[in-house]
Amino acid sequence: MTPALLGNLSVALALAFSLLGLALALLAYLQGDGRFLKGAKALASLTLLSALAAFVALEWALLTHDFSLAYVARNHALQDPLWVTLVTPWAALEGSLLLWGLLQTLYTFVASRKPLDPWRASLVLAVLFGVQVFFFGVMATIASPFQTLPNPPANGTGPNPLLQNHWMMAVHPVLMYLGFVGLSVPFAYAVAAMVTRRYQSWVEETRWWTLIAWGFLTAGKVAGMWWSYEVLGWGGYWAWDPVENASFVPWLLATAFLHTAIVQQTRGAFKAWNFAFVTLAFSATVLGTFLTRSGVIQSVHAFAEGPVGPAFLGFFLLSTALGLGLLSRVSREVRDVAVFHPFSREGALLLGAFFFSGWALVVLLGTFYPLLVEAFSGAKVSVGAPFFNQVSAPIGAGILLLMGVGPLLPWRRPRKEVFRNLYLLLSALALGTLLGLLRGYTLGASLAVGLFLYNTLAVALLFAEGVRARRLAGLSPWSFLENRRRVGSLLVHFAVALMALAIAFSQTYRLEAEKTLYRGQAWEVAGVRMAFQGVRALDEGRRFAVEALLRTDRFGEVRPRLHFYPQMNSPLPSPKVIYTPGNDYYFLLMDFDREKGEWASVRLIVTPMVFWIWVAGVLMALGTLYILWPASRPEAAREVSPA
Ligand code: HEM
Repeated sequence: MTPALLGNLSVALALAFSLLGLALALLAYLQGDGRFLKGAKALASLTLLSALAAFVALEWALLTHDFSLAYVARNHALQDPLWVTLVTPWAALEGSLLLWGLLQTLYTFVASRKPLDPWRASLVLAVLFGVQVFFFGVMATIASPFQTLPNPPANGTGPNPLLQNHWMMAVHPVLMYLGFVGLSVPFAYAVAAMVTRRYQSWVEETRWWTLIAWGFLTAGKVAGMWWSYEVLGWGGYWAWDPVENASFVPWLLATAFLHTAIVQQTRGAFKAWNFAFVTLAFSATVLGTFLTRSGVIQSVHAFAEGPVGPAFLGFFLLSTALGLGLLSRVSREVRDVAVFHPFSREGALLLGAFFFSGWALVVLLGTFYPLLVEAFSGAKVSVGAPFFNQVSAPIGAGILLLMGVGPLLPWRRPRKEVFRNLYLLLSALALGTLLGLLRGYTLGASLAVGLFLYNTLAVALLFAEGVRARRLAGLSPWSFLENRRRVGSLLVHFAVALMALAIAFSQTYRLEAEKTLYRGQAWEVAGVRMAFQGVRALDEGRRFAVEALLRTDRFGEVRPRLHFYPQMNSPLPSPKVIYTPGNDYYFLLMDFDREKGEWASVRLIVTPMVFWIWVAGVLMALGTLYILWPASRPEAAREVSPA
């Protein structure tokens, strides 16, 4: 047995089992025969095992340096460290598809174990098997990770150096895929709900899945921002790169869905919106993959040109047509008949969903516009960060305003006390903005301070309200913590406000200075004094590293590096970042004296509050985990809620 044989066999089996599962699930639905459903469920386990075997085969080939596989020859080298080898399956197109397929089979397996009536269970499985057929079909035909070479090389080139320059490579893609793939389950439930015309319960049944997928997407995005900050050497975390945009769009749509689903759960409204958002969120993940895998854009994420792009485009069109087609069929039955008061919780949630989806649309248009212009006229245009920043600032501010007031509003119509809370919130907004202006901050940064105070006060008011309601009911105030959704979402909302503040400050106030220093020469910038003590070269096997030795008064010795990879013409900077709650100090080695090491060009970027972006990311993850954690007494959790 060779890795190629095991891999090809496993992919073929996974495809065959998925096809069979799809057929059995459809038969189970059409014939109403439980035996077919049982068979489909058994096939969910078999596809998982086959996908696992294929993944093991790829790891086996990488660990044994089997360069007879084209994937291994192109993406692995003998000198790669173990951790790089282990994460190489998702360093390029075919391996990423395999990881995607594996995670898809995992989700399908777990979904097949959830109790559900046989009709919807069959349809859910049919959709999930359908998705699997696409992925394993692509792997079995146009993008096989197990294609062999007639003349294997003695050594390979190794993965793209940008991907092996930081351990985040082991984390960020997996989190993203877990999020992307996770959205397929609520989509499958939505399809089943529309086909069986049972419109209400699916949002409650899929809440767990949506939160899991959303949580992974959020964590993946923040991890990606940190990776970009640490690895790309430009001192920023978000560049409005088309690929960042492509994964931001499903995140925005999933956030919209998370909120409109709450309205359906509580008031039975927004059914049509939920079907639309869940379809668009899922198909946006496929569209994003088309963008990265088709070769239409060039970026660190864009793997290859080839037939995979059109396949993804076709799959995107198919899944969108399925979801929206079914929605148009049932639209009369799921239409909202009630009119919503704008000052009600559902009013704020719907308006918020418009903001999220409007933002998604703007980002999508900005990302696709250059591609469309080039396709039709051949002209090269670019839509850069200034455009995205300009449109995102007002939308983001609108979301922050709604986020504070929304959860304080009661369902249906406002009560008198709401206006008292509203005055308090607006006072906090005005006070924060004024304080910012008095401190000499720009209007944008001052507004960000105001919005942070506004949202922090909203969180405090909601917390106090929850505790008071428990007290009035004769319960321990601490029992408020049992209302997991309320407490967790307060933490997430606070984290969003904190992140917005940190983004506003880090984008507005950034100091960048560069100087060529000779050995022994000192330089003082932004309150940091550093002396250049020379350079040191290190042969690390797969790469050659040069580090500048800088003695600083505040942080001791600091060693920014340049990494030279044999596959790259120019070196990759490896910055040394000193994180502090106030400012980040980002040291970069730009160039050095290659003959005697007598001089080095050093850049220092000082950016405020970046540290809090990562703290906010962790708080968001913790808030989501808190919501997901099973309640010890679920029935007590919501009983005494103020609203
Ligand atoms: C939950 C409102 C923005 C993440 C909630 C809840 C409301 C709400 C009313 C339910 C709380 C409860 O049941 O006690 C809003 C409004 C927003 C907004 C009006 C602005 C348009 C955001 C943003 C995020 C976020 C920007 C994250 C990036 C969450 C999460 C939950 C939640 C994770 C918990 C959902 C669940 O448990 O199903 N939000 N929110 N929200 N919100 Fe927001």
